[in-house]
Amino acid sequence: MPSPASRSPPLLLLVPFLLLLLFSAASAWKKDEFRNCNQTPFCKRARGRKAHSVPSLSTADISISDGAVVARLLPSQPLRQATDGDDPESDTVPPRPLLLRISVYQGGVLRLHIDEDASAPRRRFQVPDVLLPDLDDRRLWLSRLSSPAAGSSSFYLAEGFEAVLVHDPFQIQVRRKGSGEPVLSFNSHGLFDFEQLRAKKNDDEDWEERFRGHTDTRPHGPQSISFDISFHGADFVYGIPEHASTSLALRPTSGPGVEFSEPYRLFNLDVFEYLDDSPFGLYGSIPFMLSHGARSSSGFFWLNAAEMQIDVLGPGWDDPAAPAKDRIDTVWMSEAGVVDAFFFVGHEPKDVLRQYTGITGTPAMPQEFAVAYHQCRWNYRDEEDVAAVDAGFDEHDIPYDVLWLDIEHTDGKRYFTWDRVLFPNPQEMQGKLAAKGRHMVTIVDPHIKRDDSFYIHKEASERGYYVKDASGKDFDGWCWPGSSSYLDVLNPEIREWWAEKFSFENYVGSTPSLYIWNDMNEPSVFNGPEISMPRDAIHFGDVEHRELHNAYGYYFHMATSNGLLKRGNGKDRPFVLSRAFFAGSQRYGAVWTGDNTADWDHLRASVPMILTLGLTGMTFSGADVGGFFGNPEPELLVRWYQLGAYYPFFRAHAHQDTKRREPWLFGERNTALIREAVHVRYSLLPYYYTLFREASVSGIPVMRPLWLEFPADKETYNNGEAFMVGPSLLVQGIYEERQKSVSVYLPAGQSWYNLRNGVSYAGGVSHKLEVSEDSIPTFQRAGTIIPRKDRFRRSSTQMVNDPYTLVIALNGSFAAEGELYVDDGKTYDFEQGAYIHRRFIFADLKLTSVNIHPANLGGKFPSDCVIERIVLLGLPSGAKKAVIEPGNREANVELGPLTLRGGSSPDAITVRKPNVHIADDWTLRIL
Ligand code: GLC
Repeated sequence: MPSPASRSPPLLLLVPFLLLLLFSAASAWKKDEFRNCNQTPFCKRARGRKAHSVPSLSTADISISDGAVVARLLPSQPLRQATDGDDPESDTVPPRPLLLRISVYQGGVLRLHIDEDASAPRRRFQVPDVLLPDLDDRRLWLSRLSSPAAGSSSFYLAEGFEAVLVHDPFQIQVRRKGSGEPVLSFNSHGLFDFEQLRAKKNDDEDWEERFRGHTDTRPHGPQSISFDISFHGADFVYGIPEHASTSLALRPTSGPGVEFSEPYRLFNLDVFEYLDDSPFGLYGSIPFMLSHGARSSSGFFWLNAAEMQIDVLGPGWDDPAAPAKDRIDTVWMSEAGVVDAFFFVGHEPKDVLRQYTGITGTPAMPQEFAVAYHQCRWNYRDEEDVAAVDAGFDEHDIPYDVLWLDIEHTDGKRYFTWDRVLFPNPQEMQGKLAAKGRHMVTIVDPHIKRDDSFYIHKEASERGYYVKDASGKDFDGWCWPGSSSYLDVLNPEIREWWAEKFSFENYVGSTPSLYIWNDMNEPSVFNGPEISMPRDAIHFGDVEHRELHNAYGYYFHMATSNGLLKRGNGKDRPFVLSRAFFAGSQRYGAVWTGDNTADWDHLRASVPMILTLGLTGMTFSGADVGGFFGNPEPELLVRWYQLGAYYPFFRAHAHQDTKRREPWLFGERNTALIREAVHVRYSLLPYYYTLFREASVSGIPVMRPLWLEFPADKETYNNGEAFMVGPSLLVQGIYEERQKSVSVYLPAGQSWYNLRNGVSYAGGVSHKLEVSEDSIPTFQRAGTIIPRKDRFRRSSTQMVNDPYTLVIALNGSFAAEGELYVDDGKTYDFEQGAYIHRRFIFADLKLTSVNIHPANLGGKFPSDCVIERIVLLGLPSGAKKAVIEPGNREANVELGPLTLRGGSSPDAITVRKPNVHIADDWTLRIL
């Protein structure tokens, strides 16, 4: 969210609002604008409960139906029906049974569904379109229950795992078969509470909620759900973005001496100048948590789009005197919806990620240009400015691929239009960029200016396509254009209509090299409660906004992404960046961490934030390089480029009130340092693209916490300062001004080669390293091969035919392996097999290129690209030449010192011009 001054609505109407904004601008994060748990009745009620204080439920009529376990859940005593009054315990009504259904899916996934029965006054909302449509085909047909002990039933979950349903009090456990060791449990602390929908008890019962002058009418009353989940054998839990955090692992929020006193909040919000370390909810929500420990990895996902609050219970939360336990307890609370929850058990953490993305989808394969560097600013003023910035990159030899236009390019914040004075020839402008292989992105937000002369508004209001307010009128809120309405993107028909707006005929001035940025889709409403839409607004199917809030941005992103797909007749892959997100957003494009600040702590927080996004499916993510608010000192800007060059999504961006900060504005030395950082990214593009392919197939993120690669190495479990890019590169950020040295932990089990000078370091120890201004510490893991392209062009598209370099870092057995994936970088032809996928294996002094493209897929991607250089690290001296087969050709071998990117390596050996084709089978023997 931008500066208060830049979003001013007409003064008279909004004087109080303006005053508030001005006051708050001075105090940065406006805490009071947002509710805390105590001001959120469902959260307060749930948090006030002690273990086993909730009237328990027991199972009845357990059976197998349609291959799933079904049962009724009956209260063991009259159900307490919460009111918001002081004495909820006194209000009792006759209970209705809840309906329980447990299903099991291939690969160790258990699904728990709990809802009211058909006599409930209203259907509770279940989030559609998030789970993959083929999920049901992967359901395992359960045929029998066994009773391992009196009062419980158990059934098969996966190889080595079973699930146990405890009858009274109701509880679910996932455990290891044989040993019976628990892995995950639901309701083991008896905190499960389900507020059933009901009529008002009497006319006086007050269901309304008030917050800072806003009234939520809450016509359907209390309907929250809460329960406890325990992760057994876990050392740490991770996930549930989005929060700003300097720690990768989640921290306890409840219990004696905790650092955070608020639960982690999942509620999509536009937060002005957010703090760098807080459990407070930001722009997106993914209710997926993973646990990891030396003995166990597991995950839990609650498909629910209402406001959620999650407590991580610290040691001694229930009894300060109790000894430390070998598990992490958590409490999940949501304002509405149903229980539709998934439990994942795996032997390794990557199994859990595969399971989660197996149900919500793997990340979409991006176009190659989108993986390169993006230049953004609020705003590039006009066509001249665009041309000058574009030329500046060429003049200073800095490659870039995409130039972005923020809201000011439009005619009065009417998206799909152009300011005719500032951007009179948009097609020509895009054409000039496209001629250099570059692309443009324009912003399209979900708020539609209420202006009858604006065709989008006219059509949307005539067709009744807007979200309605509680009284049934089109909801009217304040955003960039002033008075605005919001498309009801829950409705598939409206999403189709919206998608059509991106056709080249409809979006006048757009060309095939133009892509889209969706912002403010939490949705942000400047004069709404907590800067968002009132919870009692109404969507398609009579769904209340409270029920789907966290998924609003997801549907908008989906509709836009489908629009780009349609405009190219489904040929080209879309690129859409979104600020808001939900589980499944990874299928529609990239996200970024919103409006961060140009300070060192935000630089530091960017790493745990992006790692967490990757762990929860959203691998294509990044933070604004340089920091959105404020003016970074050149040193911070340089360090941010050096780190940001490794983010999966690499974009510089800045607020309109900041000083210009194109990379060449800070003197020659800094320009050179930034150029070098961007060059590193460009040379690693083949590796990044290969990793995006892996993510799109398996869900394993591009940027990974160290423990994802080294699950047994405890030292890595809470390291949020360093990260892996794929399996082969380790990057350590520099987060302090004028830092002279840094301690870098290199995981155990192998040695590591410094990427700049090839020097090798032992694993399993922390190394104190000197820090220089020209780079941040980066290491290649011994035993890996990284493909690069080292010639510098203006943009990634101009590198397509360039030759490759392979960097081979040998392990103790003088062996290494790596992969290269190549396709046309643009279309979906790869789905028909039009790609190259090779594995390079080095062993016994021989490098072999092996085809791993599945033969049965057919299809081919033609490429004449060759490998022009092979750098070997860790080879004993004495190599004289290389012999290539087939053909019995010879290539020269040179000893170091040789140039690696920007540095020199005394210990490297380089095979010059082997010129083997990347598409072919060959071997290269070192003699
Ligand atoms: C929001 C976005 C920011 C953008 C601005 C103007 O604050 O997060 O990136 O520049 O709006 O559109």
